Amino acid sequence: MNADILFLNNKTMEELGVLDMQQAISDVEKAYVLNANGDVISPGKCVLRWGKTPEDENIYGRINAMPGYIGGEYDMAGIKWIGSGPMNYKKGLPRASVTVILNDPDTKLPVCIADGTAVSTMRTGASGGIAIKLLAKSNASVMTICGAGAQAPKQLEAALIARPSIRELYIYDIRPENARRFEETVNRTYPGIKTVVTDNIEEATRRSDIIDCVTLAAEPFIDGSWLKPGSLVMNMADFEVSYSCVERADKIVVDYWESVKHRMISTVALMWRDGLIKDSDIHAELGQILSGMKAKRENDDEVIYFNAVGAGILDIAVTTRCYRKAMATGKGVKLSFWE
Ligand SMILES: NC(=O)c1ccc[n+]([C@@H]2O[C@H](COP(=O)([O-])OP(=O)(O)OC[C@H]3O[C@@H](n4cnc5c(N)ncnc54)[C@H](O)[C@@H]3O)[C@@H](O)[C@H]2O)c1
Repeated sequence: MNADILFLNNKTMEELGVLDMQQAISDVEKAYVLNANGDVISPGKCVLRWGKTPEDENIYGRINAMPGYIGGEYDMAGIKWIGSGPMNYKKGLPRASVTVILNDPDTKLPVCIADGTAVSTMRTGASGGIAIKLLAKSNASVMTICGAGAQAPKQLEAALIARPSIRELYIYDIRPENARRFEETVNRTYPGIKTVVTDNIEEATRRSDIIDCVTLAAEPFIDGSWLKPGSLVMNMADFEVSYSCVERADKIVVDYWESVKHRMISTVALMWRDGLIKDSDIHAELGQILSGMKAKRENDDEVIYFNAVGAGILDIAVTTRCYRKAMATGKGVKLSFWE
């Protein structure tokens, strides 16, 4: 009775194409459609939280367990185990660290342990890019990214695939050094894009076609009255935008509504808790739009609110692609699980 596990570290994952955004978008689109067709098992996140209040999470951190099974061409089970140490920056470490374990859906045995840190930023960038493709106005040219951390570069990369018309980028972060570091990266990578680091989020919002929030905010910093006609406001993390942004929206779109409610940290989830939003107020999940069951943006004047909380099946899809390539090309380190 033998069983092996393939170990894939960050460098090997890069060699296997984890940083290919077009591929990540393709994986994430397929995962959304499989979800819309019921070909996944995707229970809610289990949160291991330190501290006594949700605000404590921003000091003491958490580890989230996100298990899932994804069918279709992936046919793979597994779990994303994501640690968040908000104070890690003081030790020169990234806030988030991700381990993905893949399990054979037949035997349920583990077959792969992979560094999923890049997987996570790639698939979250891909989710943002897909939302922009379906929900941003056609010729969107001005974007604001709030939160210039690990997610920001991949949000921008995917946004530019979805809307190459973006020419101007506002960068807003409570830590100005992070905003400036991200600006340098953008200037090096995309010299054609004009960048503005700003602490005036109202002005940036008023000018932007796309406002993409990837912060750690637990207090909203964007007001709905600032949103211009045709704008898309993306709440990719917690309580980042005010209730008025959702009230202003002609369409409310989410990645997974049950997960949004289960996680209960984003603006639209809190409004549902407070009885201000009903299930029927949600226009669509992304998978329903991708599979043609619901409409995408219908004109250039609609204000659209989008919220993503993510799901382990997205990470499992991307990691499975890399794992299958590793098996085909002999990359990675085989570990003997049972000898
Ligand atoms: N929706 C998803 O699927 C998904 C996936 C991964 C991460 N996330 C979320 O995205 C967020 C960002 O992740 P990351 O890995 O880039 O984190 P990070 O710690 O690397 O960066 C976060 C950045 O936000 C800034 N920030 C914090 N509070 C702010 C505020 N109130 N206003 C403006 N800027 C603020 C920080 O200074 C930092 O630069 C996290 O909340 C994370 O949980 C969502």
